[in-house]
Amino acid sequence: MSRLLFLASTAFLLTACQQASAQKKDIERSIERGQALYVEYCESCHGVNMEGGQAPTMADDIWVYGGTDADIRRVIKEGLEEAGMPAFDDVIRAQNLDDLVTYIRSDVETFIPPTIDDVPSVQDQVKIEDWATDLDEPWAVHFIGDGTALVTEKSGKLWLVGNNSRMEIKGIPASVDKGQGGLLDVATDPDYAENRWVYLSFTHPDKNAPKTLMTKIVRGKILVGTVRADWTDEETLFQAQPKDYIETGYHFGSRITFDDAGHLFFGIGDRGKKEEAQDLTRPNGKIHRIMRDGSIPADNPFVGVEGAYPSIYSYGNRNPQGTIVHPKTGVIWETEHGPRGGDELNAIKSGVNYGWPKISYGINYNGTELTPYTALPGMEQPVSQWTPSIAVCGLDVYTGDLFPQWRGRLLAGALANQSVRLIDVEGETYRGESILIKDQGRVRDVTTGPDGAIYVALPRRIVRLTPKD
Ligand code: HEC
Repeated sequence: MSRLLFLASTAFLLTACQQASAQKKDIERSIERGQALYVEYCESCHGVNMEGGQAPTMADDIWVYGGTDADIRRVIKEGLEEAGMPAFDDVIRAQNLDDLVTYIRSDVETFIPPTIDDVPSVQDQVKIEDWATDLDEPWAVHFIGDGTALVTEKSGKLWLVGNNSRMEIKGIPASVDKGQGGLLDVATDPDYAENRWVYLSFTHPDKNAPKTLMTKIVRGKILVGTVRADWTDEETLFQAQPKDYIETGYHFGSRITFDDAGHLFFGIGDRGKKEEAQDLTRPNGKIHRIMRDGSIPADNPFVGVEGAYPSIYSYGNRNPQGTIVHPKTGVIWETEHGPRGGDELNAIKSGVNYGWPKISYGINYNGTELTPYTALPGMEQPVSQWTPSIAVCGLDVYTGDLFPQWRGRLLAGALANQSVRLIDVEGETYRGESILIKDQGRVRDVTTGPDGAIYVALPRRIVRLTPKD
């Protein structure tokens, strides 16, 4: 009551000019409150500048669910469950909803995002140049020879990209570009020079219920002609049972990596069904291990456990977005998205439970507590974790010659934080990190090139990092 009464009783004392400036102050205050709510509840998905990320941009004034203030209020209140937009009915009161809408409608350029890290930077040691441009959301970059890489676009195309050339590979399996899903990772066999196998992960629709989706892994070969390139000899390596396909459009995983013993590892995110990350009869929320031909290693930890997926290697993994076997130590490094906070760096081991959603350093997107526990018996701690989330994505080990001082360090990309982290590890121990690049755009993938440069996939291009002289 106080606010309204105050406004009413003072209004007649003010001149028109004072009234206008009081109104302006009111709007400014409303924007400030809205902004605080946005930072707390929305930016992790919609981006620090509303540029989008896990969720669409709100800066373009294009509204799929209706563009009136009432429409926007309704979406925030009720959420869009299937699309992955949470309901905020319980946590944001009506007055605050208005502040939030006012803020969303206000000039977004005036908003300066809070800094979320005081990690040391080595940005002054690298030169950044464009290597490939005009790409549509490149998801993975994988070099197959000097100056030539395979590049996936989330929207469904696989490209052979050279310094000044590009050829589409026709005939790859159809993927579903929905939310975070689409054509995802590409990798080549450790013996690629002899056998030419190329591995893909993607969002696959069930043929009898095409709205339901799950991550699928295939391999095939690429026949390169003078004017076209074709995908041939396809084999399915991992496909979930139809009962485990899910309609949601997020948390698909799924980087592919290999160890020296002939195993292939890949992750599948929890698909928004967090309890299923603890359920061994489900493929989601897990790291899987298969042989390169898709067969199951006899010593996988849950082989013979009734109902369990025999490919499961570890569980309780929320949404793995980076996996790489360290060439020196053999440690299987994994980065995964936490909810709000609690992004993790894990060392993946056979049969181990990484705890999601029983333990986490994060909280729910709407600010409510997710779990009171950050640690419980029988559940593995992360090697390191990022709170607030940086939205880890893409992981490699630097193995080149151009930056000898960084050899053996992890290169971890980040979407929301728009950075590449250079992480110093020794065995399974975290020894600190620095920022290699920052604010060039959301980082989807990062890899060491055969020339020793570091290549980074950004929203529309791939950049090449070399030492600054
Ligand atoms: C967990 C991630 C997540 C969070 C947190 C989140 N959203 Fe969303 N939001 C989404 C997704 C995903 C969609 C898109 C659904 C679609 O395209 O079908 C969406 C859609 C929307 C839309 C509809 C856009 C349109 O085109 O009509 C609005 C408005 C919106 N969100 C506002 C907010 C606000 C305000 C907040 C904070 C209170 C918020 N969201 C927090 C994921 C999120």
